[in-house]
Amino acid sequence: QWKMQAFIDNTIADIRAKVGNKRVICGLSGGVDSSVCAALLVKAIGSQVACIYVDNGLMREGETELVKHTFRDWFKADLHAVDAGERFLSALAGVTDPQEKRKIIGKVFIDVFKHEAKSIPDAHFLAQGTLYPDVIESGGSVDGPAATIKLHHNVGGLPAELGFELVEPLRDLFKDEVRKLGIELGLPEDVVWRHPFPGPGLAVRCLGEVTESKLATLRKADTIFLEELRKAGLYRKTAQAFAVLLPVRSVGVMGDGRTYENTICLRCVQTDDFMTADWSRLPEDLLARVATAIINRVKGINRVVYDISSKPPATIEWE
Ligand code: XMP
Repeated sequence: QWKMQAFIDNTIADIRAKVGNKRVICGLSGGVDSSVCAALLVKAIGSQVACIYVDNGLMREGETELVKHTFRDWFKADLHAVDAGERFLSALAGVTDPQEKRKIIGKVFIDVFKHEAKSIPDAHFLAQGTLYPDVIESGGSVDGPAATIKLHHNVGGLPAELGFELVEPLRDLFKDEVRKLGIELGLPEDVVWRHPFPGPGLAVRCLGEVTESKLATLRKADTIFLEELRKAGLYRKTAQAFAVLLPVRSVGVMGDGRTYENTICLRCVQTDDFMTADWSRLPEDLLARVATAIINRVKGINRVVYDISSKPPATIEWE
């Protein structure tokens, strides 16, 4: 407790000394790291920091609202929430290749971010929620070795060409310390204990072409799964849990009729470092409840399967 308060005081003093009276832009993704980074900056320099949140239209249910509520209403931060869903979706139209999807999302993200950053006068610094493990893994830069398997993209990976000087107040911290810090700074538990979510968002969980209607289906199924997982008290005991929409149709029966609809796959894993992972042995009745709820409540889905592959050889995400 005492150590955390000392860390906060020292870090705030460091941030103030470093940035002086110049403006700082903070990239906010809604994830734990960038949220804690933003909260710390707001505490240190108030309205001198402008937070940029890009809503790429690929977020989960309620995520954008939570970010807006937390930072705008609660922290009174200068939040620039860019509603760019249409840009991302039109750039993704007709694209089915996973790497291609990631490349497009990364590129549009940088364009949108850059454009918004230009609208903030006198911005000199860019704050990022880089953690100690990110620094180690990537040998100093965030576009690390994982990029060779999947083109990783996140808020922490903005290119140097943007021309900002970096502020990385979480560079010495591990994830559990960042969570403690977040609680201390007054972030909601819902933000602090959030499972990681990939930069390309639901696009890599909506296999094949991404469309508005597929995303809506996936969001509903995902919400049901996470709600049931929380109710069962298992959200914090699992590292990551989500639904994937498979472009596979199968035959089913509903009342007197035949159905021919899509499949939802549930993925839930245990892991310490996300480099290797094992599938979670979720209770059978929980899985049964989730499957029934999804099939009853989500139009267009008549089958639910559970992914029992570990990493390696499978990855956590499906694309
Ligand atoms: P994989 O699927 O490679 O994922 O086993 C390992 C972890 O990384 C997350 N992930 C991403 N995170 N940008 C991110 O910030 C990305 O492009 C990205 N792709 C995967 C994934 O959710 C898991 O936690």
